[in-house]
Amino acid sequence: MLRIGVLVSGRGSNLQALIDNVEAGKLKARIALVISDNPEAQAIKRCQKHGVPCKVLRREDFPSKKAFEEEMVRALKEAGVELVVLAGFMRILSKHFIEHFPERVINVHPSLLPSFKGLEAQRQAVEYGARFSGCTVHLVDETVDGGPVIVQAVVPVLPEDTAESLAERILKWEHRILPQAVQWFAEGRVSVEGRKVLVEGARYGTLPVNPELEGF
Ligand code: GRF
Repeated sequence: MLRIGVLVSGRGSNLQALIDNVEAGKLKARIALVISDNPEAQAIKRCQKHGVPCKVLRREDFPSKKAFEEEMVRALKEAGVELVVLAGFMRILSKHFIEHFPERVINVHPSLLPSFKGLEAQRQAVEYGARFSGCTVHLVDETVDGGPVIVQAVVPVLPEDTAESLAERILKWEHRILPQAVQWFAEGRVSVEGRKVLVEGARYGTLPVNPELEGF
């Protein structure tokens, strides 16, 4: 079974979605280790509740970013982790870290990349006046939110939306596409050709996301 490591910094609702799908037997992977860089993260309580191994590593306890990342790599390798999942991890990983897990570090981001990279992506979408946004699971490279896309889901941005209401709508989809992406890796169906991620046998449908046009 694919052994995954999950890096978190906060609430951990995406971690919870992974735990729930593993417990339901739909996601055939083992959460071998969760690492939180924040000792106060709600994600830690979720691990305790579900018997998932969890380690807190605070950046401040290391002399450099390199030393901090090396300890994360050591702990992940020790746990036999093959796929690293960033689920609300609020730090940018160096090329050095990523090279330890080639094409096997993924992240979930609350926008349709390449739109609205970085922090507060949902607020950015509302303030921009976009009609659609969504979420993306992508491979992590040394750029911020710039690696090849694995899967995206689209949601409408409604005229009355706030950053919070849009975030809630997007989050429901994050909780579906992240476990799906991990399951694709678990099934060995993912290959990467340049910027294109191919998922063997995946069906790409047309979502009913378009507005109802009036007479057109
Ligand atoms: C999610 O919106 C995720 O897309 C972003 O950070 C948030 C983490 O939420 N990278 P949670 O900790 O999984 O609840």
